[in-house]
Amino acid sequence: MAEDKNRAQFATRLGIIATTVGSAVGLGNIWRFPYEAGNNGGGAFLLCYILCIIMLGIPVLCAEFAIGRSTQSNIFGAFRAIKTSGKWHWIGYIGIIASIMILSFYSVVAGWTMEYLYQSIIGGLNYSNSDCFHSHFVSFSSSNWRPIMWTIIFLLCNYIIVVRGVKKGIEKMSNIMMPALFVLLIIFCINSLMMPKAGEGLAFLFNPDFSKITPKVVISALGQAFFSLSLGLGTMMTYGSYFSKGTRIVRSATITASLDTLVAILAGLIIFPAVFSFGMSPVQGPALVFEVLPSIFTQMPGGQLWSILFFFLLFLASLTSTISMSEVSIAFFTEEKNMTRTKASALNLIIALCGGVLSALSFGYFSDKSVFGLCSLDFFTFFDFTSSNILLPLGGMFISFFAGWILDRSRLKDTLTNEGKIGVKTFPLLVICLKYVAPICIVLIFLLGMGLF
Ligand code: PHE
Repeated sequence: MAEDKNRAQFATRLGIIATTVGSAVGLGNIWRFPYEAGNNGGGAFLLCYILCIIMLGIPVLCAEFAIGRSTQSNIFGAFRAIKTSGKWHWIGYIGIIASIMILSFYSVVAGWTMEYLYQSIIGGLNYSNSDCFHSHFVSFSSSNWRPIMWTIIFLLCNYIIVVRGVKKGIEKMSNIMMPALFVLLIIFCINSLMMPKAGEGLAFLFNPDFSKITPKVVISALGQAFFSLSLGLGTMMTYGSYFSKGTRIVRSATITASLDTLVAILAGLIIFPAVFSFGMSPVQGPALVFEVLPSIFTQMPGGQLWSILFFFLLFLASLTSTISMSEVSIAFFTEEKNMTRTKASALNLIIALCGGVLSALSFGYFSDKSVFGLCSLDFFTFFDFTSSNILLPLGGMFISFFAGWILDRSRLKDTLTNEGKIGVKTFPLLVICLKYVAPICIVLIFLLGMGLF
């Protein structure tokens, strides 16, 4: 397959890993994983999550990379290039809706991160009691203008980077930021493991209580796995299209998934020992990390500096994730609808702003208003639940089905083995996962979630 010379490509091997990990690692690992684990029984959730990553996540990630690189196209063009008949490119619409929904609520949480960065700088988080952190979070998140202001600032930062294209912005930033964040997390992890009730936290996270594995826990773990690996919406397909001919797809997918899972577990190792040591509850939902982390920092020597560093890196990690999800709709607008990159980025910004404002107000003005009266969820929860737990697994199911049943086997093999230049021993296993395991498991989990068993 000839490579399109005009298409941007990642410059180095480290750049590829740092960028895909940059998309995968973000608020999903550090904010969403601990709160989902906390809400869903700790160890039971972690077990289901890891199974989803291995059995479904890595195969679908390989499929996305392979389809992206072999077609050199965005999610719409990719399906059209392979299968000219049929409606497979419709998977792209699932991806676009999911990416915009995620961008809407994600930028609100990224905005919270910016507020906490600002508060750390001005010394506004110096409480001695963890209840104060709770009140601080509640009064900030329910205020009507501050969260919106930060959401807008965050989306503007995202716009400024995406409008300049893929290579310049993302790769440079990820190369420096990802290792720095990793080092910081290890330091915090050691600190948490020395806390008085660290053992209780560890037991909560690693000792699964099998009776707690319910359909809700399984669905949440599935959604978290797809969300955390940025799967099912075409993000990784678009990134795969920027891979060079020599990139080893299966290896890149395995490294990306392993590092992403490691960061989520590190976040758990930081949060849960602290939750139990401070006598807090693990079931606090989206507020969890924003109440626990500042409490940890106040107990550390040089806490203010740690806090500034951490929230700054978390802000950058969120940015590398939103850049990657924006790429789904921007690639669609530019490559399928012939818009200029500037117009496409502006359109993406405007839509996300609308969703972002609705999500930001879900903790204050709109807290008692459900989505247009249609369901019992507020906008924030609706965007989060629908995208992560429904749209991403649905997209992932179609992608794996496509790679397993529709895509020419020899084309898949050629792409994964770099035209036969490298051996991929796991190829037969991967095909079984794509053909049977992933589609069947996802359908079963959906049916389970709908209460059909
Ligand atoms: N994986 C990202 C995170 O964990 C979120 C994301 C989802 C990014 C979907 C792109 C696409 O924060």
